[in-house]
This record gives sequence, structure tokens and C-alpha cells, in this order.
Amino acid sequence: MLAAADPAPTPTQGRPEGTPEGTIVAAAAGPAPEPSMPELSVPELSVIVPCYNERANVAPLVAHLTSALAGIAWEVIFVDDSSPDGTAAEVLRLGAEDARVRCIRRIGRRGLSSAVIEGALASSAAYIAVMDGDLQHDETRIPPMLAALRAGTADLAVGSRHAAGGDAAGLGSAWRHRISELGIGIAQRFLPVRLADPMSGFFALPRPLFDRLAPRLTGAGFKILLDLLLAGGKGLRVVEVPFVFRPRVAGESKLDVLVVIQFAALLLDKLSGGLLPLRFIAFACVGAFGVLVNLAVLGILTKLAGLGFELSQSLATLVAMLANFELNNRITYRDQRLRGRMLWQGRALFVLVCGIGAVANVGIAGMLYRRHAGWSLAGAAGAAIGVVWNYAVSATLVWRTR
Ligand code: GDD
Ligand code: MN
Repeated sequence: MLAAADPAPTPTQGRPEGTPEGTIVAAAAGPAPEPSMPELSVPELSVIVPCYNERANVAPLVAHLTSALAGIAWEVIFVDDSSPDGTAAEVLRLGAEDARVRCIRRIGRRGLSSAVIEGALASSAAYIAVMDGDLQHDETRIPPMLAALRAGTADLAVGSRHAAGGDAAGLGSAWRHRISELGIGIAQRFLPVRLADPMSGFFALPRPLFDRLAPRLTGAGFKILLDLLLAGGKGLRVVEVPFVFRPRVAGESKLDVLVVIQFAALLLDKLSGGLLPLRFIAFACVGAFGVLVNLAVLGILTKLAGLGFELSQSLATLVAMLANFELNNRITYRDQRLRGRMLWQGRALFVLVCGIGAVANVGIAGMLYRRHAGWSLAGAAGAAIGVVWNYAVSATLVWRTR
């Protein structure tokens, strides 16, 4: 931690308070001793770098920052999710030589957005900048971004690939270009402020502003900037600083189909005004898919294998529950995926919880049906209560979210 060192001793030190003048106190004579630690300056800027499997990029990035940020009191906070390639160890190695290099290592967690949030909240600087750890962002653009913030002309400075002078050339494949453009188009439709590149992962803002917006961030997926823009609302003054997105040299991109799905869920979450939390949407979609699995297995067992209906339906329900567990563990709870022994325990608990949910579902639907509610209303009410129960209880018992 970069913290202010002990305050320099004042001339009165060495004489206990209240000692009458003239009293001889040991060691009172002579100049005050030098503090043993050099005073560490508090950085003006913290560069937050989320990283996963970026070992080879850490040292070059620190070297680039060192030259690009000459004249600025800066530090860099790498937020690593215990990458198997030893990224954190590499950061610590550099940090042992240079106190400006800091490391936050998270255990049992994944996610770009939440990594950025935790890194930013750990900063005591006046400003924070967020950039990728794979050398795709141009660190020489940070000083102009910081200048705009210092001048007070903008609340948020965004490194933009799509503003005049910027370029997204480094976006690997054609499908990445298309997805990126599609995402930008959708985002621009409902963003409170106009921005050429709302999907950028490269931006800077004053630390106190981040503090203000942090409680309103969802923290899921890749789209931390989008999340900040939505939380900031109309009043946010944004400036775009063009930059050229470089191709990735070492390591690989973590953006995949699941990230795109998560983006869609983030939009739904925002559009519903937070009424439907991201996880619940994912959980319900997985549940809907589970119904299809249930029906398919039921059909196969009764029609093809010739088993009795009750036995077939019990087996089909079990298969659907297990399939749902796998999907929830990979998608809904991707950021805190259960592994190893926890996986088996989680699977068993999930089946138990959903089993109780199914009993509640059937019980409530049956009760409503007997009271002449009509089969579709009774069925829908039972299913709704089942999914809410399954969600609430599995979130607290199986995946233990806050
Ligand atoms: N701690 C942590 N945890 N870091 C992560 C995780 C994670 O789960 N996933 C990715 N990162 C880190 C990567 O190591 C990298 O430093 C940075 O986040 C960006 O990840 P990439 O996987 O390189 O993303 P990209 O280059 O495909 O996407 C970039 O461009 C997008 C626009 O096309 C990012 O800047 C995105 O934010 C941006 O939207
Ligand atoms: Mn990248």
C-alpha cells in the first residue's frame, strides 16, 4: 500500500508534552532524527488494469506506463483473478522493486467489470484510469485524458476507437468488428449521453465520481464503461480522446459468446430499471431451457424406451435439474463457478432445492386449480413460485451470493 509515511518529526518532539521548560530530558538535545523511511508521495493517478492470464504483458505494460506517464505521480493496480499463468506473481515481482506497482489478487472470482470496480475502490488517488492489461490500449493517451479531467472540462474521458483519429484495427477478426459495431449501435440507442465508442474499456475519471457511481454498478460482464455511463445519467460531461486499438501480441482475448449473452442481459436489467436483476434473468432463461430438456427426455423415455409415465417424468426432471445446474454454474454464476468437491456438493444441494421447488410448484398449482383458477393461470402461478423459490434459495445456499 502506498500510504503517507509518518509525519516528519517537529522540533518540539523529543520533549514530552507538559514538561516544564528547563527540565532536562534525555535525547532532547541535538537535531531531530531523520525519519527512517523516505516519505512516499500519494499518487495523483491510479491506473487500474484488470488482468487474466496476462503474465507476458505485465512487465512491458509497466515499462510503457513509466515512459508515458513521466511527470505524473502515478501507480498501477493490477487486479488479477488468480490467473493460472502466474500473472499475480509477476506483478508482485515488479512491485518488490517499484512501489508504484500494486497487485490485488482475487480468489474464486472472475469478471472484468467487478475487477475494475475493486481496483478503483482500492485507490486513494485523485483520478483513476482504466485500461486493458494486454497492451491493446495506447498509454500515451492517458496524459491528454488526465489533462481534460484536471481542467474540469469533463467528468469522464474515454479513449475512443471511433472518434476522428481513432481506429479499431486491432479487433482481430471480422466477427469481432461486427459484434462490436452491433453492440455500439444498441448501446447508443438508450445511453443518456452521446458517445462514439461507449464499448471502450479505456477511460479515466475523478476518483470521488467513481465512488458516487459505484453503488449503482451491476459489476457483471465486460461493459464497465457502459455501466458507468448509465449510472451517471444525463449530467455526465464526457470527452472522447481518439486512440488506435493495437492488435493483441501475447495471450488471448477472453471475450466469448457468453460475454455477449451477458451484455444482452445487462441491457435487459437496465431497461427493466433494475426490477429484474441480471442473475434472475439468466436463471429464468436457464429454467425455461430446462423445461425443454424435461419434455425432450420425457418424450424419449415414454415413446422410444416405453417406460411408464411417472418413472419417465421423474427421470426427465432429474436430467433437467442436472442440466440446469451445469448451465447456471457456467452462465448465471460464471463469476463464482463451483469446482472440484464444491461442484458435487453444489449439484446435490441444487437438486434438493429444486425438488422442493417442484413440490411447491405442483402444490400451489393444484390448490389454485381446485379453486377453479383455470389450468393455465394455476400452472403459471405454480411455475412462477417455483422459479422464485429455486432462485432465492440456490443463490443463498448453492452459490452463496450476497
Ligand atoms: N481480473 C480479470 N478477470 N480480468 C479479466 C477478466 C476476468 O475475468 N477477463 C478479461 N480480463 C482482462 C484481460 O486480461 C485484459 O487485460 C482485459 O481484461 C480485456 O480483456 P480482453 O479479453 O483482452 O478483451 P478484448 O480485447 O477482447 O476486449 C476489449 O475490447 C472491447 C471492445 O471491443 C476490452 O477493452 C473490452 O472492455 C472492450 O469492450
Ligand atoms: Mn484485449
